[in-house]
Amino acid sequence: MAVGTVRSLLAEVEAEPAPFLAVVHAVHDAQGYLAPEDVAAIAAALKLPTADVFGALSFYYYLHQGSEPSSLVGVCDGPACRLAGSDRLAERVRRQHGIGEDGRSADRRRRYRDFPCAGLCDWRPVRRADGRCDGEGKAGNPLPAGTHGAAWPIDSEKAIFRFADADLRRLDAYRAAGGYAALRKVERGGDPAGLIEAVADSGLTGRGGAGFPLARKLAMVQGAAGEEKYVVCNADEGEPGTFKDRAIMECLPHLLLEGMAIAGYAVSAGVGIIYLRYEYPYILDALRRAVEEAQAAGVLGDFRVYVRRGAGAYVCGEETSLLNSLEGRRPWPRERPPYPTERGLFGRPTLVNNVETLAAIPAMVEGGAAWFRPLGRAGATGTKLYSLSGAVRRPCNFELPLGVTARQLIFQHGGGTLNGRALKAFTLGGVSGGLLPPDALDTPLDYAGPARWGGTLGSGGIIVYDEASCLVDAALVHMRFFEKESCGKCFPCRIGTVRYRELLEELCGARERETSAGDALSLFQELAAAMTHASACGLGMAAPLTVTSLARHWPHEVESHVRGRCPAAVCRI
Ligand SMILES: Cc1cc2nc3c(=O)[nH]c(=O)nc-3n(C[C@H](O)[C@H](O)[C@H](O)COP(=O)(O)O)c2cc1C
Repeated sequence: MAVGTVRSLLAEVEAEPAPFLAVVHAVHDAQGYLAPEDVAAIAAALKLPTADVFGALSFYYYLHQGSEPSSLVGVCDGPACRLAGSDRLAERVRRQHGIGEDGRSADRRRRYRDFPCAGLCDWRPVRRADGRCDGEGKAGNPLPAGTHGAAWPIDSEKAIFRFADADLRRLDAYRAAGGYAALRKVERGGDPAGLIEAVADSGLTGRGGAGFPLARKLAMVQGAAGEEKYVVCNADEGEPGTFKDRAIMECLPHLLLEGMAIAGYAVSAGVGIIYLRYEYPYILDALRRAVEEAQAAGVLGDFRVYVRRGAGAYVCGEETSLLNSLEGRRPWPRERPPYPTERGLFGRPTLVNNVETLAAIPAMVEGGAAWFRPLGRAGATGTKLYSLSGAVRRPCNFELPLGVTARQLIFQHGGGTLNGRALKAFTLGGVSGGLLPPDALDTPLDYAGPARWGGTLGSGGIIVYDEASCLVDAALVHMRFFEKESCGKCFPCRIGTVRYRELLEELCGARERETSAGDALSLFQELAAAMTHASACGLGMAAPLTVTSLARHWPHEVESHVRGRCPAAVCRI
Protein backbone atom coordinates (compact mmCIF):
# COMPACT_ATOMS: atom_id res chain seq x y z
CA MET A 1 0.00 0.00 0.00
CA ALA A 2 1.34 3.43 -0.86
CA VAL A 3 2.77 5.36 2.05
CA GLY A 4 0.31 8.15 1.19
CA THR A 5 -2.63 5.78 1.61
CA VAL A 6 -1.38 4.63 5.00
CA ARG A 7 -1.03 8.28 5.98
CA SER A 8 -4.56 9.09 4.87
CA LEU A 9 -5.96 6.10 6.82
CA LEU A 10 -4.02 7.34 9.80
CA ALA A 11 -5.30 10.88 9.30
CA GLU A 12 -8.82 9.63 10.03
CA VAL A 13 -7.87 8.48 13.53
CA GLU A 14 -4.70 10.25 14.53
CA ALA A 15 -6.48 12.93 16.55
CA GLU A 16 -8.03 10.16 18.67
CA PRO A 17 -6.33 8.55 21.65
CA ALA A 18 -4.43 5.30 20.96
CA PRO A 19 -4.68 5.33 17.14
CA PHE A 20 -2.22 2.44 16.60
CA LEU A 21 -4.62 -0.53 16.41
CA ALA A 22 -7.16 1.52 14.48
CA VAL A 23 -4.74 2.26 11.66
CA VAL A 24 -3.24 -1.25 11.68
CA HIS A 25 -6.70 -2.77 11.20
CA ALA A 26 -7.66 -0.18 8.59
CA VAL A 27 -4.64 -1.18 6.46
CA HIS A 28 -5.10 -4.90 7.12
CA ASP A 29 -8.83 -4.81 6.34
CA ALA A 30 -8.25 -2.80 3.16
CA GLN A 31 -5.77 -5.18 1.55
CA GLY A 32 -5.85 -8.42 3.57
CA TYR A 33 -2.24 -8.27 4.70
CA LEU A 34 0.43 -5.97 6.09
CA ALA A 35 3.43 -5.50 3.81
CA PRO A 36 6.81 -4.48 5.30
CA GLU A 37 6.46 -0.99 3.81
CA ASP A 38 3.05 -0.59 5.50
CA VAL A 39 4.52 -1.51 8.86
CA ALA A 40 7.42 0.92 8.32
CA ALA A 41 5.00 3.69 7.31
CA ILE A 42 2.82 3.13 10.40
CA ALA A 43 5.89 3.14 12.66
CA ALA A 44 7.24 6.35 11.10
CA ALA A 45 3.90 8.15 11.26
CA LEU A 46 3.38 7.26 14.92
CA LYS A 47 7.04 7.86 15.81
CA LEU A 48 7.51 4.31 17.08
CA PRO A 49 10.69 2.24 16.53
CA THR A 50 10.14 0.21 13.35
CA ALA A 51 11.65 -2.97 14.83
CA ASP A 52 9.32 -2.74 17.80
CA VAL A 53 6.28 -2.35 15.57
CA PHE A 54 7.33 -5.39 13.48
CA GLY A 55 7.82 -7.30 16.71
CA ALA A 56 4.50 -6.19 18.14
CA LEU A 57 2.54 -7.03 14.98
CA SER A 58 4.11 -10.48 14.59
CA PHE A 59 2.72 -11.26 18.04
CA TYR A 60 -0.92 -11.31 16.94
CA TYR A 61 -2.76 -14.31 15.61
CA TYR A 62 -4.99 -12.56 13.07
CA LEU A 63 -2.61 -10.10 11.42
CA HIS A 64 -1.13 -11.51 8.24
CA GLN A 65 2.22 -10.05 7.30
CA GLY A 66 3.18 -10.73 3.70
CA SER A 67 2.58 -9.51 0.19
CA GLU A 68 -0.70 -11.13 -0.81
CA PRO A 69 -4.09 -11.45 0.90
CA SER A 70 -4.82 -14.71 2.59
CA SER A 71 -7.85 -15.71 4.54
CA LEU A 72 -7.85 -18.07 7.50
CA VAL A 73 -10.05 -21.11 7.80
CA GLY A 74 -9.99 -23.45 10.75
CA VAL A 75 -11.78 -24.77 13.79
CA CYS A 76 -11.65 -23.80 17.44
CA ASP A 77 -9.31 -26.02 19.42
CA GLY A 78 -10.64 -24.82 22.79
CA PRO A 79 -11.79 -27.34 25.39
CA ALA A 80 -15.57 -27.01 24.86
CA CYS A 81 -15.21 -27.40 21.08
CA ARG A 82 -12.89 -30.38 21.48
CA LEU A 83 -15.44 -32.06 23.72
CA ALA A 84 -17.99 -31.47 20.97
CA GLY A 85 -15.86 -33.09 18.26
CA SER A 86 -13.83 -30.25 16.75
CA ASP A 87 -11.30 -32.77 15.38
CA ARG A 88 -13.99 -34.34 13.15
CA LEU A 89 -15.18 -30.89 12.13
CA ALA A 90 -11.60 -29.98 11.20
CA GLU A 91 -11.48 -32.80 8.65
CA ARG A 92 -14.71 -31.59 7.06
CA VAL A 93 -13.54 -27.98 6.94
CA ARG A 94 -10.26 -29.02 5.31
CA ARG A 95 -12.12 -31.03 2.66
CA GLN A 96 -14.65 -28.28 2.03
CA HIS A 97 -11.98 -25.69 1.37
CA GLY A 98 -9.65 -28.02 -0.53
CA ILE A 99 -6.84 -27.58 1.97
CA GLY A 100 -3.74 -29.50 0.93
CA GLU A 101 -0.83 -30.99 2.86
CA ASP A 102 0.85 -27.57 2.99
CA GLY A 103 -2.16 -26.14 4.85
CA ARG A 104 -3.22 -24.02 1.84
CA SER A 105 -6.07 -24.16 -0.64
CA ALA A 106 -5.19 -24.85 -4.29
CA ASP A 107 -5.61 -21.14 -5.21
CA ARG A 108 -3.47 -20.28 -2.18
CA ARG A 109 -6.02 -17.75 -0.98
CA ARG A 110 -6.93 -19.70 2.14
CA ARG A 111 -4.71 -20.92 4.94
CA TYR A 112 -5.82 -23.55 7.42
CA ARG A 113 -5.07 -22.89 11.08
CA ASP A 114 -6.91 -24.00 14.19
CA PHE A 115 -7.67 -21.06 16.42
CA PRO A 116 -7.91 -20.63 20.18
CA CYS A 117 -11.33 -20.38 21.87
CA ALA A 118 -13.43 -17.73 20.09
CA GLY A 119 -15.88 -17.24 22.96
CA LEU A 120 -18.71 -19.16 21.28
CA CYS A 121 -18.64 -22.20 23.56
CA ASP A 122 -22.45 -22.25 23.65
CA TRP A 123 -22.44 -22.95 19.88
CA ARG A 124 -19.77 -25.61 19.93
CA PRO A 125 -17.97 -26.85 17.84
CA VAL A 126 -17.01 -23.63 16.09
CA ARG A 127 -15.48 -23.04 12.64
CA ARG A 128 -14.05 -19.95 10.96
CA ALA A 129 -14.11 -18.90 7.29
CA ASP A 130 -14.23 -15.54 5.52
CA GLY A 131 -13.61 -13.64 8.73
CA ARG A 132 -16.61 -15.05 10.55
CA CYS A 133 -17.07 -17.78 13.12
CA ASP A 134 -20.06 -20.04 13.15
CA GLY A 135 -21.13 -22.74 15.53
CA GLU A 136 -22.29 -26.16 14.37
CA GLY A 137 -24.19 -26.52 17.64
CA LYS A 138 -26.01 -23.21 17.29
CA ALA A 139 -29.17 -24.74 15.84
CA GLY A 140 -29.39 -27.33 18.60
CA ASN A 141 -29.03 -24.78 21.39
CA PRO A 142 -32.30 -24.87 23.35
CA LEU A 143 -32.16 -21.16 24.26
CA PRO A 144 -33.87 -18.32 22.41
CA ALA A 145 -32.11 -17.18 19.26
CA GLY A 146 -30.78 -13.65 19.19
CA THR A 147 -29.79 -13.63 22.82
CA HIS A 148 -26.68 -15.71 22.21
CA GLY A 149 -27.84 -17.87 25.03
CA ALA A 150 -27.89 -15.12 27.61
CA ALA A 151 -30.08 -15.89 30.59
CA TRP A 152 -31.21 -14.19 33.76
CA PRO A 153 -31.85 -15.27 37.33
CA ILE A 154 -35.07 -16.95 38.25
CA ASP A 155 -36.18 -13.81 40.05
CA SER A 156 -35.84 -11.29 37.24
CA GLU A 157 -36.41 -8.39 39.63
CA LYS A 158 -32.87 -9.01 40.73
CA ALA A 159 -31.35 -9.03 37.27
CA ILE A 160 -28.76 -6.43 36.44
CA PHE A 161 -28.47 -7.58 32.84
CA ARG A 162 -31.94 -7.50 31.32
CA PHE A 163 -31.17 -9.59 28.29
CA ALA A 164 -34.77 -10.63 27.91
CA ASP A 165 -36.22 -7.15 27.65
CA ALA A 166 -37.07 -5.46 24.38
CA ASP A 167 -34.23 -4.62 22.08
CA LEU A 168 -32.16 -2.52 24.43
CA ARG A 169 -29.43 -2.23 21.82
CA ARG A 170 -31.25 0.86 20.57
CA LEU A 171 -30.77 4.10 22.44
CA ASP A 172 -34.46 5.07 22.41
CA ALA A 173 -35.50 1.69 23.85
CA TYR A 174 -32.71 1.81 26.42
CA ARG A 175 -33.74 5.29 27.54
CA ALA A 176 -37.40 4.39 27.59
CA ALA A 177 -36.50 1.57 29.97
CA GLY A 178 -34.80 4.02 32.32
CA GLY A 179 -31.35 3.87 30.76
CA TYR A 180 -28.90 6.71 31.43
CA ALA A 181 -30.90 7.74 34.53
CA ALA A 182 -28.07 6.51 36.78
CA LEU A 183 -25.57 8.70 34.93
CA ARG A 184 -27.88 11.71 35.28
CA LYS A 185 -28.28 10.90 38.97
CA VAL A 186 -24.54 10.95 39.70
CA GLU A 187 -24.06 14.09 37.60
CA ARG A 188 -26.82 15.79 39.55
CA GLY A 189 -25.29 14.56 42.81
CA GLY A 190 -22.01 16.29 41.91
CA ASP A 191 -20.15 14.22 44.44
CA PRO A 192 -17.55 11.80 42.98
CA ALA A 193 -16.27 10.96 46.48
CA GLY A 194 -19.81 10.06 47.61
CA LEU A 195 -20.19 7.90 44.51
CA ILE A 196 -16.99 6.00 45.33
CA GLU A 197 -18.27 5.54 48.88
CA ALA A 198 -21.51 4.08 47.56
CA VAL A 199 -19.52 1.68 45.38
CA ALA A 200 -17.52 0.68 48.47
CA ASP A 201 -20.75 0.06 50.42
CA SER A 202 -22.12 -2.07 47.62
CA GLY A 203 -19.12 -4.42 47.82
CA LEU A 204 -18.85 -4.53 44.01
CA THR A 205 -15.63 -6.28 43.05
CA GLY A 206 -13.97 -6.75 39.67
CA ARG A 207 -15.63 -9.44 37.56
CA GLY A 208 -12.70 -9.96 35.17
CA GLY A 209 -10.85 -12.49 37.30
CA ALA A 210 -9.15 -11.18 40.41
CA GLY A 211 -12.18 -9.84 42.30
CA PHE A 212 -10.41 -6.61 43.26
CA PRO A 213 -12.70 -4.09 45.03
CA LEU A 214 -13.86 -1.55 42.46
CA ALA A 215 -14.10 1.31 44.95
CA ARG A 216 -10.42 1.00 45.87
CA LYS A 217 -9.40 1.21 42.25
CA LEU A 218 -11.68 4.19 41.64
CA ALA A 219 -10.20 5.98 44.65
CA MET A 220 -6.65 5.32 43.48
CA VAL A 221 -7.29 6.77 40.02
CA GLN A 222 -9.24 9.68 41.48
CA GLY A 223 -6.35 10.41 43.85
CA ALA A 224 -3.57 10.02 41.26
CA ALA A 225 -1.85 13.15 40.02
CA GLY A 226 -2.53 14.13 36.42
CA GLU A 227 -4.84 16.26 34.33
CA GLU A 228 -5.66 13.57 31.82
CA LYS A 229 -7.00 10.19 32.90
CA TYR A 230 -8.48 7.23 31.08
CA VAL A 231 -11.12 4.59 31.63
CA VAL A 232 -10.18 1.42 29.75
CA CYS A 233 -12.78 -1.30 29.40
CA ASN A 234 -11.21 -4.73 29.17
CA ALA A 235 -13.32 -6.53 26.59
CA ASP A 236 -10.61 -8.92 25.49
CA GLU A 237 -12.41 -11.97 26.90
CA GLY A 238 -9.84 -14.48 25.68
CA GLU A 239 -10.26 -17.01 28.46
CA PRO A 240 -11.49 -20.33 27.01
CA GLY A 241 -14.97 -21.12 28.24
CA THR A 242 -15.79 -17.47 29.01
CA PHE A 243 -18.34 -15.64 26.86
CA LYS A 244 -20.29 -13.42 29.26
CA ASP A 245 -18.89 -10.04 28.14
CA ARG A 246 -19.93 -10.94 24.60
CA ALA A 247 -23.56 -11.16 25.75
CA ILE A 248 -23.45 -7.84 27.61
CA MET A 249 -21.89 -5.95 24.72
CA GLU A 250 -24.10 -7.51 22.12
CA CYS A 251 -27.41 -7.10 23.92
CA LEU A 252 -26.77 -4.13 26.22
CA PRO A 253 -24.08 -1.88 24.71
CA HIS A 254 -25.58 1.25 26.29
CA LEU A 255 -25.44 -0.29 29.74
CA LEU A 256 -21.68 -0.64 29.29
CA LEU A 257 -21.32 2.92 27.96
CA GLU A 258 -23.33 4.28 30.87
CA GLY A 259 -21.18 2.33 33.35
CA MET A 260 -18.02 3.66 31.73
CA ALA A 261 -19.28 7.23 31.84
CA ILE A 262 -20.18 6.88 35.54
CA ALA A 263 -16.73 5.44 36.25
CA GLY A 264 -15.22 8.32 34.25
CA TYR A 265 -17.18 10.74 36.41
CA ALA A 266 -15.92 9.07 39.59
CA VAL A 267 -12.25 9.33 38.60
CA SER A 268 -12.42 12.57 36.55
CA ALA A 269 -11.55 10.90 33.25
CA GLY A 270 -12.88 12.36 30.02
CA VAL A 271 -11.96 9.49 27.72
CA GLY A 272 -13.00 5.86 27.66
CA ILE A 273 -11.52 3.16 25.43
CA ILE A 274 -13.05 -0.26 24.88
CA TYR A 275 -10.46 -2.89 24.00
CA LEU A 276 -12.51 -5.48 22.15
CA ARG A 277 -11.24 -8.92 21.27
CA TYR A 278 -10.78 -9.52 17.54
CA GLU A 279 -13.08 -12.52 17.48
CA TYR A 280 -16.22 -10.45 18.06
CA PRO A 281 -16.64 -8.53 14.75
CA TYR A 282 -20.44 -8.38 15.09
CA ILE A 283 -20.01 -6.69 18.46
CA LEU A 284 -17.58 -4.19 16.99
CA ASP A 285 -20.39 -2.95 14.75
CA ALA A 286 -22.94 -2.93 17.59
CA LEU A 287 -20.61 -1.01 19.89
CA ARG A 288 -19.66 1.54 17.27
CA ARG A 289 -23.32 2.16 16.49
CA ALA A 290 -24.14 2.58 20.18
CA VAL A 291 -21.22 5.00 20.71
CA GLU A 292 -22.25 7.10 17.70
CA GLU A 293 -25.88 7.16 18.80
CA ALA A 294 -25.05 8.06 22.41
CA GLN A 295 -22.57 10.75 21.44
CA ALA A 296 -24.86 12.25 18.81
CA ALA A 297 -27.68 12.43 21.37
CA GLY A 298 -25.33 13.94 23.94
CA VAL A 299 -26.25 11.41 26.63
CA LEU A 300 -22.60 10.80 27.57
CA GLY A 301 -21.99 14.52 28.15
CA ASP A 302 -18.30 15.34 27.65
CA PHE A 303 -17.20 11.74 28.07
CA ARG A 304 -15.80 10.40 24.76
CA VAL A 305 -15.65 6.69 24.02
CA TYR A 306 -13.47 4.95 21.41
CA VAL A 307 -13.46 1.30 20.41
CA ARG A 308 -10.17 -0.44 19.64
CA ARG A 309 -9.95 -3.92 18.27
CA GLY A 310 -7.41 -6.45 19.50
CA ALA A 311 -5.76 -8.74 16.97
CA GLY A 312 -5.68 -12.14 18.64
CA ALA A 313 -3.48 -12.65 21.72
CA TYR A 314 -4.85 -13.98 25.02
CA VAL A 315 -2.21 -12.16 27.06
CA CYS A 316 -3.69 -8.83 25.90
CA GLY A 317 -6.44 -9.42 28.46
CA GLU A 318 -3.81 -8.93 31.16
CA GLU A 319 -4.25 -5.27 31.93
CA THR A 320 -0.70 -4.02 31.40
CA SER A 321 -0.25 -6.08 28.21
CA LEU A 322 -3.49 -4.51 27.03
CA LEU A 323 -2.10 -1.03 27.63
CA ASN A 324 1.08 -1.91 25.72
CA SER A 325 -1.07 -3.25 22.90
CA LEU A 326 -3.02 0.01 22.71
CA GLU A 327 0.23 1.97 22.62
CA GLY A 328 1.62 -0.13 19.74
CA ARG A 329 4.26 -1.82 21.85
CA ARG A 330 4.92 -5.52 22.24
CA PRO A 331 1.87 -6.65 24.16
CA TRP A 332 3.50 -8.25 27.11
CA PRO A 333 3.11 -7.43 30.81
CA ARG A 334 4.72 -4.41 32.39
CA GLU A 335 6.53 -4.52 35.67
CA ARG A 336 4.50 -3.24 38.60
CA PRO A 337 4.61 -0.89 40.49
CA PRO A 338 3.78 1.58 39.13
CA TYR A 339 0.23 0.25 38.68
CA PRO A 340 -2.00 1.48 35.87
CA THR A 341 -4.05 3.44 38.41
CA GLU A 342 -1.02 5.68 38.78
CA ARG A 343 0.80 5.30 35.43
CA GLY A 344 -1.28 3.50 32.85
CA LEU A 345 -2.07 4.32 29.23
CA PHE A 346 0.63 6.63 27.85
CA GLY A 347 1.84 7.08 31.43
CA ARG A 348 -1.45 8.57 32.64
CA PRO A 349 -3.63 7.35 35.52
CA THR A 350 -5.90 4.69 34.09
CA LEU A 351 -8.84 2.73 35.40
CA VAL A 352 -8.89 -0.72 33.79
CA ASN A 353 -12.02 -2.74 34.44
CA ASN A 354 -13.84 -5.67 32.98
CA VAL A 355 -17.02 -5.24 30.91
CA GLU A 356 -19.20 -6.92 33.53
CA THR A 357 -17.78 -4.78 36.35
CA LEU A 358 -18.45 -1.53 34.50
CA ALA A 359 -21.85 -2.64 33.27
CA ALA A 360 -22.92 -3.47 36.85
CA ILE A 361 -22.40 0.13 37.98
CA PRO A 362 -25.64 1.74 36.66
CA ALA A 363 -27.90 -0.81 38.41
CA MET A 364 -25.92 -0.40 41.61
CA VAL A 365 -26.27 3.39 41.42
CA GLU A 366 -29.99 3.17 40.67
CA GLY A 367 -30.83 0.50 43.22
CA GLY A 368 -28.35 1.68 45.84
CA ALA A 369 -25.75 -0.25 47.79
CA ALA A 370 -28.36 -1.64 50.18
CA TRP A 371 -30.20 -3.25 47.24
CA PHE A 372 -27.08 -4.49 45.49
CA ARG A 373 -25.23 -6.10 48.40
CA PRO A 374 -27.77 -8.77 49.37
CA LEU A 375 -28.17 -9.94 45.76
CA GLY A 376 -25.23 -12.23 46.51
CA ARG A 377 -25.25 -15.34 48.69
CA ALA A 378 -23.31 -16.29 51.78
CA GLY A 379 -21.57 -12.97 52.23
CA ALA A 380 -20.80 -12.40 48.54
CA THR A 381 -22.24 -9.25 47.00
CA GLY A 382 -24.21 -8.67 43.81
CA THR A 383 -24.87 -11.00 40.92
CA LYS A 384 -22.46 -12.72 38.56
CA LEU A 385 -22.66 -13.82 34.99
CA TYR A 386 -21.44 -17.41 34.82
CA SER A 387 -20.59 -18.91 31.42
CA LEU A 388 -21.39 -22.60 31.45
CA SER A 389 -20.17 -24.95 28.71
CA GLY A 390 -18.70 -28.39 28.01
CA ALA A 391 -20.60 -31.61 28.65
CA VAL A 392 -23.72 -29.86 29.86
CA ARG A 393 -27.24 -29.79 28.44
CA ARG A 394 -27.72 -26.02 28.40
CA PRO A 395 -24.44 -24.28 27.56
CA CYS A 396 -25.23 -20.66 28.28
CA ASN A 397 -24.59 -17.51 30.30
CA PHE A 398 -26.52 -17.37 33.57
CA GLU A 399 -26.86 -14.30 35.73
CA LEU A 400 -27.16 -15.63 39.28
CA PRO A 401 -26.42 -14.46 42.79
CA LEU A 402 -22.66 -14.36 43.30
CA GLY A 403 -22.03 -17.35 45.52
CA VAL A 404 -24.52 -19.87 44.10
CA THR A 405 -23.15 -23.36 44.31
CA ALA A 406 -21.70 -25.19 41.36
CA ARG A 407 -24.45 -27.81 41.81
CA GLN A 408 -27.17 -25.17 41.38
CA LEU A 409 -25.47 -23.71 38.34
CA ILE A 410 -24.72 -26.97 36.56
CA PHE A 411 -27.77 -29.05 37.48
CA GLN A 412 -30.56 -26.62 38.24
CA HIS A 413 -29.81 -24.04 35.57
CA GLY A 414 -27.59 -25.90 33.13
CA GLY A 415 -29.85 -28.94 33.01
CA GLY A 416 -27.15 -31.36 34.18
CA THR A 417 -24.66 -33.27 32.12
CA LEU A 418 -25.11 -34.07 28.48
CA ASN A 419 -26.33 -37.65 27.98
CA GLY A 420 -26.96 -37.92 31.72
CA ARG A 421 -23.50 -39.30 32.43
CA ALA A 422 -22.00 -38.70 35.86
CA LEU A 423 -20.12 -35.44 36.31
CA LYS A 424 -16.39 -36.05 36.62
CA ALA A 425 -14.94 -32.55 36.92
CA PHE A 426 -15.61 -28.90 36.27
CA THR A 427 -13.20 -26.09 35.63
CA LEU A 428 -13.23 -22.65 37.20
CA GLY A 429 -12.08 -19.40 35.64
CA GLY A 430 -12.33 -20.88 32.15
CA VAL A 431 -9.14 -22.93 32.20
CA SER A 432 -7.24 -20.69 34.65
CA GLY A 433 -8.98 -21.54 37.93
CA GLY A 434 -8.22 -25.26 38.24
CA LEU A 435 -10.23 -28.48 37.89
CA LEU A 436 -12.63 -29.33 40.71
CA PRO A 437 -14.07 -32.75 41.62
CA PRO A 438 -17.78 -33.63 42.18
CA ASP A 439 -17.21 -33.33 45.95
CA ALA A 440 -16.80 -29.59 45.39
CA LEU A 441 -20.26 -29.16 43.83
CA ASP A 442 -21.67 -27.50 46.95
CA THR A 443 -18.94 -24.89 47.07
CA PRO A 444 -20.16 -21.31 46.61
CA LEU A 445 -18.92 -19.95 43.33
CA ASP A 446 -17.56 -16.70 44.72
CA TYR A 447 -14.10 -15.23 45.23
CA ALA A 448 -13.41 -17.10 48.49
CA GLY A 449 -15.21 -20.46 48.35
CA PRO A 450 -13.18 -22.42 45.80
CA ALA A 451 -9.85 -21.70 47.55
CA ARG A 452 -10.15 -24.69 49.87
CA TRP A 453 -10.32 -26.92 46.78
CA GLY A 454 -7.26 -25.24 45.33
CA GLY A 455 -9.28 -23.31 42.74
CA THR A 456 -10.31 -19.73 41.96
CA LEU A 457 -13.52 -18.40 40.42
CA GLY A 458 -11.66 -16.12 37.99
CA SER A 459 -13.79 -14.89 35.09
CA GLY A 460 -16.71 -17.20 35.95
CA GLY A 461 -16.26 -19.58 33.00
CA ILE A 462 -17.14 -23.16 33.96
CA ILE A 463 -16.48 -26.13 31.67
CA VAL A 464 -18.03 -29.46 32.60
CA TYR A 465 -16.37 -32.83 31.98
CA ASP A 466 -18.36 -36.03 32.35
CA GLU A 467 -17.18 -39.49 33.31
CA ALA A 468 -16.24 -40.37 29.71
CA SER A 469 -13.55 -37.66 29.65
CA CYS A 470 -9.88 -38.23 30.25
CA LEU A 471 -8.70 -35.47 32.55
CA VAL A 472 -5.03 -35.89 31.65
CA ASP A 473 -6.06 -35.19 28.08
CA ALA A 474 -8.11 -32.22 29.31
CA ALA A 475 -5.08 -30.87 31.18
CA LEU A 476 -3.02 -31.29 28.03
CA VAL A 477 -5.55 -29.27 26.00
CA HIS A 478 -5.43 -26.53 28.61
CA MET A 479 -1.64 -26.54 28.72
CA ARG A 480 -1.28 -26.37 24.94
CA PHE A 481 -3.38 -23.24 25.09
CA PHE A 482 -1.16 -21.66 27.76
CA GLU A 483 1.99 -22.64 25.89
CA LYS A 484 0.76 -21.06 22.65
CA GLU A 485 -0.40 -17.94 24.43
CA SER A 486 2.60 -17.46 26.73
CA CYS A 487 4.12 -14.18 25.57
CA GLY A 488 7.67 -15.41 26.20
CA LYS A 489 8.77 -12.40 28.21
CA CYS A 490 9.54 -14.32 31.39
CA PHE A 491 11.22 -17.70 31.36
CA PRO A 492 9.25 -19.48 34.13
CA CYS A 493 6.12 -19.24 32.00
CA ARG A 494 7.84 -19.62 28.62
CA ILE A 495 9.71 -22.78 29.62
CA GLY A 496 7.31 -24.06 32.28
CA THR A 497 4.33 -24.33 29.92
CA VAL A 498 6.47 -26.25 27.39
CA ARG A 499 7.76 -28.69 30.03
CA TYR A 500 4.26 -29.26 31.38
CA ARG A 501 2.94 -29.90 27.87
CA GLU A 502 5.77 -32.35 27.18
CA LEU A 503 5.15 -34.20 30.45
CA LEU A 504 1.42 -34.45 29.78
CA GLU A 505 2.11 -35.71 26.25
CA GLU A 506 4.39 -38.36 27.72
CA LEU A 507 1.61 -39.42 30.08
CA CYS A 508 -0.90 -39.52 27.25
CA GLY A 509 1.41 -41.56 25.04
CA ALA A 510 1.72 -38.80 22.45
CA ARG A 511 5.46 -38.53 23.07
CA GLU A 512 8.14 -41.06 23.91
CA ARG A 513 8.65 -41.54 27.65
CA GLU A 514 11.72 -39.80 28.99
CA THR A 515 10.56 -39.10 32.52
CA SER A 516 10.18 -41.79 35.14
CA ALA A 517 6.89 -42.09 36.98
CA GLY A 518 8.20 -40.63 40.24
CA ASP A 519 9.99 -37.82 38.44
CA ALA A 520 6.85 -36.86 36.54
CA LEU A 521 4.87 -36.30 39.72
CA SER A 522 7.56 -34.34 41.50
CA LEU A 523 8.18 -32.27 38.37
CA PHE A 524 4.48 -31.34 38.40
CA GLN A 525 5.00 -29.72 41.80
CA GLU A 526 8.43 -28.18 41.15
CA LEU A 527 7.29 -26.49 37.96
CA ALA A 528 4.20 -25.19 39.73
CA ALA A 529 6.29 -23.62 42.49
CA ALA A 530 8.64 -21.92 40.01
CA MET A 531 5.85 -20.65 37.78
CA THR A 532 3.57 -19.48 40.56
CA HIS A 533 6.28 -17.54 42.34
CA ALA A 534 8.37 -16.22 39.48
CA SER A 535 6.11 -15.57 36.47
CA ALA A 536 5.66 -11.98 35.35
CA CYS A 537 1.87 -12.15 35.14
CA GLY A 538 -1.19 -14.19 35.97
CA LEU A 539 -0.87 -16.36 32.85
CA GLY A 540 2.21 -18.17 34.16
CA MET A 541 0.85 -18.15 37.70
CA ALA A 542 -2.45 -19.75 36.72
CA ALA A 543 -1.22 -22.27 34.13
CA PRO A 544 -0.02 -24.88 36.69
CA LEU A 545 -3.39 -24.96 38.51
CA THR A 546 -4.96 -27.30 36.01
CA VAL A 547 -2.14 -29.84 36.55
CA THR A 548 -1.77 -29.46 40.30
CA SER A 549 -5.52 -29.84 40.80
CA LEU A 550 -5.43 -32.92 38.57
CA ALA A 551 -2.71 -34.45 40.74
CA ARG A 552 -4.54 -33.44 43.92
CA HIS A 553 -8.05 -34.63 43.12
CA TRP A 554 -7.45 -37.46 40.63
CA PRO A 555 -4.15 -39.08 41.70
CA HIS A 556 -5.38 -42.47 40.45
CA GLU A 557 -6.04 -41.12 36.99
CA VAL A 558 -2.53 -39.68 36.84
CA GLU A 559 -1.01 -42.89 38.22
CA SER A 560 -2.77 -45.08 35.70
CA HIS A 561 -1.42 -42.86 32.91
CA VAL A 562 2.02 -43.19 34.47
CA ARG A 563 1.52 -46.95 34.15
CA GLY A 564 0.46 -46.47 30.53
CA ARG A 565 -3.31 -46.90 30.86
CA CYS A 566 -6.23 -44.52 30.67
CA PRO A 567 -9.35 -45.37 32.68
CA ALA A 568 -11.62 -43.04 30.70
CA ALA A 569 -13.79 -44.07 27.77
CA VAL A 570 -12.60 -41.11 25.72
CA CYS A 571 -8.87 -40.52 25.78
CA ARG A 572 -8.38 -38.73 22.52
CA ILE A 573 -4.64 -39.11 22.34
C1 LIG B 1 -3.44 -13.77 30.99
C2 LIG B 1 -4.53 -12.91 31.52
C3 LIG B 1 -5.65 -12.66 30.75
C4 LIG B 1 -6.67 -11.85 31.24
N1 LIG B 1 -7.76 -11.65 30.46
C5 LIG B 1 -8.73 -10.81 30.89
C6 LIG B 1 -9.85 -10.52 30.06
O1 LIG B 1 -9.97 -11.03 28.94
N2 LIG B 1 -10.79 -9.66 30.54
C7 LIG B 1 -10.67 -9.07 31.78
O2 LIG B 1 -11.51 -8.27 32.16
N3 LIG B 1 -9.63 -9.34 32.57
C8 LIG B 1 -8.66 -10.17 32.15
N4 LIG B 1 -7.57 -10.39 32.96
C9 LIG B 1 -7.50 -9.68 34.25
C10 LIG B 1 -6.97 -8.25 34.05
O3 LIG B 1 -5.56 -8.26 34.13
C11 LIG B 1 -7.50 -7.28 35.11
O4 LIG B 1 -7.34 -7.85 36.37
C12 LIG B 1 -8.97 -6.91 34.91
O5 LIG B 1 -9.21 -6.39 33.63
C13 LIG B 1 -9.37 -5.88 35.95
O6 LIG B 1 -10.75 -5.62 35.85
P1 LIG B 1 -11.76 -5.99 37.01
O7 LIG B 1 -11.17 -5.47 38.29
O8 LIG B 1 -13.00 -5.28 36.63
O9 LIG B 1 -11.91 -7.47 37.05
C14 LIG B 1 -6.56 -11.24 32.52
C15 LIG B 1 -5.42 -11.49 33.30
C16 LIG B 1 -4.43 -12.32 32.81
C17 LIG B 1 -3.25 -12.58 33.66
